[in-house]
Amino acid sequence: MNPKPHVAVVGATGAVGIEMIKTLEKRNFPVGKLTLLASARSVGKTLTYRGQTLTVEELTKDSFAGVDIALFSAGGSISKEYAPIAAKAGCVVVDNSSAFRMDDSVPLVVPEINAADIKGHKNIIANPNCTTAITLMALYPLHKAFGVKRIFASSYQAVSGTGAKAIEELKRQVEEVVAGQPVTKEVYPHQIAFNVLPHVDVFLPSGYTKEEEKMENEGRKIMHHPGFRASVTCVRVPVYRAHSVAVSAEFEKPVTVEAARAVLCKAPGLDVVDDPAKKEYPLPLYAAEKYNCQVGRLRKDSALDNGLCFWVAGDQLLKGAALNAVQIAEELLK
Ligand code: A2P
Repeated sequence: MNPKPHVAVVGATGAVGIEMIKTLEKRNFPVGKLTLLASARSVGKTLTYRGQTLTVEELTKDSFAGVDIALFSAGGSISKEYAPIAAKAGCVVVDNSSAFRMDDSVPLVVPEINAADIKGHKNIIANPNCTTAITLMALYPLHKAFGVKRIFASSYQAVSGTGAKAIEELKRQVEEVVAGQPVTKEVYPHQIAFNVLPHVDVFLPSGYTKEEEKMENEGRKIMHHPGFRASVTCVRVPVYRAHSVAVSAEFEKPVTVEAARAVLCKAPGLDVVDDPAKKEYPLPLYAAEKYNCQVGRLRKDSALDNGLCFWVAGDQLLKGAALNAVQIAEELLK
């Protein structure tokens, strides 16, 4: 790999794309050249990177000539169409969509957990689902210590996970409600302001949504744990940024709060925020814009054998998307 790679961001104008550009800059990624790609609608728009003004170009089949690394976050259908074209042109794609995550030939990577899987890549590496990545930041270290059997979890997912239009929708609906006007809907099937929607992604024949099944499927692949089971309810909440997840986990070995805390305190990319007496626990408002995820509300699960309850929060635009993608790119340079 070129030590000063030419990097392209596909979906550069989107909620995640903007964070990818900021993360490359903040982490001093050794970008040789940066190309910003989006739809024809955005051609000519400008974005800044390291004080330079860069113009957004239209994504086409010819966009990848000379590009070393492409960070994709323009949705699954764009990834399905263009990632193989980029890969064929010799570019390594880090794809934030779900298009290739369960493909056996594509590594699915959270660098703190399975960075070693990257080396088998065939020019496409998948970034995990945001809720799964944030949950695993706390669950995986516990799994290594105590052996996780299964989890029951509910998520509290921020609107920015749906993209820039959903951020606008929450803002607009809050203003409409406060002004006593009728609420208008474009993105979600129901009002999201002052409401919660137990509906993230599409419903499947099982009755779960696709988002809910990602936790078990992607969790098994990332943790190399084919027996892992997860029953999840994913909920969209009127929070702008950072997802939270309430988890009840059952382990093979006995687990105490003290032993779990000792493990979590040493886990990379994770901060333990857990002092209920001082009203300290992870909050999405404070987890937003932070690289590390936060875990707290540690307690013995009263309904499971060898069970532990915890609450984990993390910025899904960062650890759930842009940061994880840039970390994968950093691994490619090692
Ligand atoms: P654009 O802004 O030109 O529509 P979000 O997840 O915030 O909705 O962002 C989606 C990103 O994917 C945006 O950068 C968007 O660009 C980009 N995108 C959407 N459709 C296409 C397309 N057909 N070709 C290239 N980029 C696309």
